[in-house]
Amino acid sequence: MSIILSIIYLIATITFIVGLKKLGHPDTAKSGNLIAAGGMIAAILGTIFIHDLQVPTIIYVLIGIAILLGSIMGWLIAIKVEMTKMPELVSLFNGFGGASAALIGIVEFGNSDIKTTSTTIIATILSAIVIGAITFSGSLIAWGKLNGSVKSVIKIPQYNIVNNLVIIGIITVATYVVVGNIDTPILLYALLAGGLVYGILFVLPIGGADMPVVISLLNSLTGIAAAITGVLYDNMVMLVGGILVGSAGIILTVAMCKAMNRTLFSVIFGSFTANVGPAGTNKALGSIKSTTASDSAIMMNYATNVVIVPGYGLAVAQAQHVIHELEELLTNKGVIVKYAIHPVAGRMPGHMNVLLAESNVEYSRLVEMEDINPQFNNTDVVLVVGANDVVNPAAHNDPSSPIYGMPILDVENAKHVIVNKRSMKAGYAGIENELFYNSKTSMLFGDAKKVLTDLVAELKNM
Ligand code: TAP
Repeated sequence: MSIILSIIYLIATITFIVGLKKLGHPDTAKSGNLIAAGGMIAAILGTIFIHDLQVPTIIYVLIGIAILLGSIMGWLIAIKVEMTKMPELVSLFNGFGGASAALIGIVEFGNSDIKTTSTTIIATILSAIVIGAITFSGSLIAWGKLNGSVKSVIKIPQYNIVNNLVIIGIITVATYVVVGNIDTPILLYALLAGGLVYGILFVLPIGGADMPVVISLLNSLTGIAAAITGVLYDNMVMLVGGILVGSAGIILTVAMCKAMNRTLFSVIFGSFTANVGPAGTNKALGSIKSTTASDSAIMMNYATNVVIVPGYGLAVAQAQHVIHELEELLTNKGVIVKYAIHPVAGRMPGHMNVLLAESNVEYSRLVEMEDINPQFNNTDVVLVVGANDVVNPAAHNDPSSPIYGMPILDVENAKHVIVNKRSMKAGYAGIENELFYNSKTSMLFGDAKKVLTDLVAELKNM
């Protein structure tokens, strides 16, 4: 490899690490993203143009067309996508990463002479094919589930046994090919098919709040597949990039499991069954108390401190700007306002942080769950906007609840709780919320944007 290309790869690798580090804070995230993207562009151009191979012009033309088409499509999709659809997009893009790794594996198997190629390289090629195929089909199923085109949880009978048989079959065939130096395309395609089937079977039975964990896990698998292809091509930047994606994905997977109090084992092999109560009143839980924007505004106007709990509904209503206006109004009236951020509020990690950053909410006002929970005892009013599961006390009180044990925002410890949502419908986990029936709670029904706009109007008149 030329020294220039080595230097480009080294710089690209450093940009990935610096970029990842900068993604850790909203103030630096944008520049981190740009730095890593710059490194990626340099690595791609270096790979295409700096080498000792005789490449016909037509290959450059084809690569150029592929890059142009991919860039236009990616750009169009990315500028159009709504924030709430982001996990779907991540899942889809992730699938393409897996497909690339599988295709590279197939091409490389065709280019290798199995009799003379080392066992390690053949095993690496087969791993790229299988892991890439699992990631591809698994990510497509996850994408379908998130956009509603695939039913949430599909369990085939004895799916754990079937899954294990498929994976044992894959390992057996792969070992046979590697150890026996078998150069039969049919076995290669059997492995590809096995990987695709396993990806589907793996994701089909998983649903509910476990989906983001699975997406993160698949993301990590894509990283591993990319790292494997980096080994194949002796390409440092691909290897390091893959390792970074693989390890970041695993760290995120574990962090999300922790935030939902689930083990990875229970996400993959267990089930997240929802226990949906009737919409409206619930005999077991009691009756609810409704309030108006005017009464809620009065309550907040005379409060010393207000904690706002944003949730998925805030993102759906795109009410981040008006919530910031409400916060500024209250602050100008001398009320201390903070936002309580639950790690899995919304539909993707950091969803609420990104949403509130969009409307320039001061970052210092965002308080993480562990830090805000002890403060609820001294809070006059909590305003819950479009959040449900993350404030559900069943996580503490009901051992039969699927979210039992999940850390939540303890808003019921505050003096008053105002909950804004459109109806009594359940949140993502599909379960009743006893907070809504608490004597301290008032329900302020309506679309978050409309309700917050009304609150702002009421406060302006006080
Ligand atoms: P949810 O529990 O999903 O509740 C959101 C609530 O917002 C719903 O009950 C809905 O009630 C209300 N809502 C929807 N549109 C609204 C609108 N336009 N105006 C006002 N309210 C609206 O949300 P959460 O509390 O943020 O909890 C997140 C859940 O998603 C957790 O179960 C979590 O495990 C899961 N999850 C998290 C992630 C990550 S990583 N953040 C990813 C996927 C899933 P109405 O329909 O009655 O309005």
